Amino acid sequence: MSDARESSATRLVLLGAPGAGKGTQASLLEQRLDLCALSTGDLLRGLQEASGSRLSEAEREALDHMRRGELVPDGTVVALVAEQVDCLHHPRGFLLDGFPRTLAQARALDELLRVGGLGLDAVLSYELPLEAIVARLGGRRTCFACRAIYHVETRPPRRSGVCDRCGGALGQRDDDRPEAVRTRMQTYERETAPLATYYQEQGLLCPVPAHGTPEEIFERSLVRLEALRGARSSSVGD
Ligand code: AP5
Repeated sequence: MSDARESSATRLVLLGAPGAGKGTQASLLEQRLDLCALSTGDLLRGLQEASGSRLSEAEREALDHMRRGELVPDGTVVALVAEQVDCLHHPRGFLLDGFPRTLAQARALDELLRVGGLGLDAVLSYELPLEAIVARLGGRRTCFACRAIYHVETRPPRRSGVCDRCGGALGQRDDDRPEAVRTRMQTYERETAPLATYYQEQGLLCPVPAHGTPEEIFERSLVRLEALRGARSSSVGD
C-alpha cells in the first residue's frame, strides 16, 4: 500500500467534461482541505502571460491547440506537471484538475507518483447532462488575473465585469466559443471518458452527480470520498 493511503494527505484527481464544474470544486477543495491545487488548463493559460512574445515553438503550438479546443500534446502537459514537484509532495496532499486527460497521461502520472513514493486516494468524476454543461459554459466569466470563476446567472460578481477577489477584469475564455466547445466535448468523449474505466479498475473511481449548488456538490464529494475510503479500509480488513 502507498504512503498516500496511510498518511493524512489527500491526493485526488478531478475528472469531468468541460464545464462540469471541476474548477469550481477544485477551488472549494483547495480552500477547505488545504490541498495544493494544480490545473493544467491554468498552467497552460499562464504560459502565455509568463512568456509574452518569447514563447517557444512547443508553447506556441500548445496554445494553438487550446484555442481550437483540442488537447495539448501529452509530452508538453506531462512535462508541465512533472515540474510541480512541490505541489505533488504537499504535506496535506494535492488535487489535479484537468490532468490526466488521456490514457497515456494517466500512465505517466502513475509513473510520476510511483517514483515519488506517492499514491492516489480517489478520482472524483463529476457527472452532468450536456444541456446543463452548455448553459454553464455559455455564462462562464473568468478573472484574467487570479483565475477565479464566475457565472453571469448562477455566480455573478458583485460588480459586473470585476473580480470580487482581486479586482481584475472578467472575460470569456477563447475556448468557450461555440465551435471550440463542440470540439472540446468530442475530444472529451473520445480521449478522456475512457479514464473512468481505467480508474474504476483500480478501485479509485468516485462518481459525483454535479447538479445542485457548488456547496451541495462539494458536500456530496466529501461524502463520496469518505464512502470510498470506508469501503477500501473494510476490504483491507477482510
Ligand atoms: P481546462 O481549463 O482544464 O478546461 P476544461 O476541462 O475544458 O474545463 P473547464 O475549465 O471548461 O470547466 P470546469 O469543469 O472546470 O467548470 P467550471 O468550474 O469552470 O482545459 C482547457 C484546455 O487546456 C483544454 O481544452 C486543452 O486544450 C488544454 N488542456 C488542459 N489540460 C490538458 C491536458 N491534461 N492534456 C491536454 N490538454 C490539456 O464551471 C463552468 C461554469 O459553470 C462556471 O461559470 C461556473 O461558475 C459554473 N458552475 C460551476 N458549478 C456550478 C453549479 N454547481 N451550479 C451552477 N453553475 C456552476
